[in-house]
Amino acid sequence: MMQPAAIALGVRLRVLATGPDESAAQVIPDVALGAHDDPQAVLAFARSCDVITFDHEHVPTPVLERLIELGVAVRPGPGALVHAQDKSIMRERLSAIGVPCPQWAHLDDSGDGVEGVIARATEFAKEAGWPFILKTARGGYDGKGVWRIEDAQQLREVAQGAATRGVKLIAEALVPFTRELSAQVARSPHGQAVAYPVVETVQREGICREVYAPAPGLDADRSAEAQRIALTIARELDVTGMLAVELFQTADGALSVNELAMRPHNSGHWSIDAAVTSQFENHLRAVLDLPLGAPTPQAPVAVMANVLGLDLPDVYPAYLHCMARDPGLKIHMYGKAVKPGRKIGHVTVLGDDFEDCVERATHAAAYLRGEIDE
Ligand SMILES: Nc1ncnc2c1ncn2[C@@H]1O[C@H](COP(=O)(O)OP(=O)(O)OP(=O)(O)O)[C@@H](O)[C@H]1O
Ligand SMILES: [Mg+2]
Repeated sequence: MMQPAAIALGVRLRVLATGPDESAAQVIPDVALGAHDDPQAVLAFARSCDVITFDHEHVPTPVLERLIELGVAVRPGPGALVHAQDKSIMRERLSAIGVPCPQWAHLDDSGDGVEGVIARATEFAKEAGWPFILKTARGGYDGKGVWRIEDAQQLREVAQGAATRGVKLIAEALVPFTRELSAQVARSPHGQAVAYPVVETVQREGICREVYAPAPGLDADRSAEAQRIALTIARELDVTGMLAVELFQTADGALSVNELAMRPHNSGHWSIDAAVTSQFENHLRAVLDLPLGAPTPQAPVAVMANVLGLDLPDVYPAYLHCMARDPGLKIHMYGKAVKPGRKIGHVTVLGDDFEDCVERATHAAAYLRGEIDE
């Protein structure tokens, strides 16, 4: 999704991909094949680029630090990116700079094995209450690596599973949120930043399903507060490129930070069709240290719905139906193999009426995955 923005800006992308079938490798002619965690592959690739950026956050910190030593521009830099890679480092830092977070605790194995982790989690739950949340510090996505812990037995199972896989856990209080929001900003190396409208994200089974832009009924003060939180994090952590701050909102309106992403994010896909400058274009502008584009929405409401893999291996018949039913629909498919629950595309609808946009977007997403037939 970065490629159309790069074409328009006259910027040439090269991509390091693990295989020719990866989405980016299908549409960017200049592909180098190699693994993002293979230092040799990343170093060889980086030598041919003016600026390195990411569409996921899994490149190991030591590899990126080596690139910096070699004089490669890495944006965001490893010192910022680590906060999107490791939730324990992120919690530590956000707490230190006064950003509101849920109550949390490290559960590191301090040499006392899984029993120590269980004891610290049990101690944490005495204060934070049951049920609570356990998360892997690294490597989670789409809710994989997040558990709602109801009782001691489940705690033991999850802690043992993590220990077997050599994975670090953190504990968080279960936030009784009424909804989840996302505040996105773009920030450039020279310190310019722009804030997108704050959006609402709807998760089911840990997977983002819909995004409402702007977040319906969010009052102007809260919206400004969320944008301020995101701008503060971007500045304090020296983020370059796009930053998404996932937020919880509770019944009293209060906000706390869930996690960070330092790249174009699912919560900003609406901006491709509905903002003056998409998150992909602003990511490129930011990492190239060009002046940023306006994040202004072009319609009162935009609703994005993810298309998740289910039953339809071939979407062509569904295309006919969806395109004919709703000529205003914007369809984006990612060229990914269909697997149940995998994000294989998204649709966006712009309009004036919130309910109407939600109906059209969710209907199309459900139809494209084969969930409904008519
Ligand atoms: N402390 C918490 N209290 C309540 N619910 C939570 C908490 N932490 C996470 N969740 C729920 O689990 C979802 C996934 O959590 P999180 O964003 O940390 O995981 P992830 O797998 O890294 O997500 P992503 O798909 O965004 O990469 C959240 O969107 C939220 O719905
Ligand atoms: Mg998340």
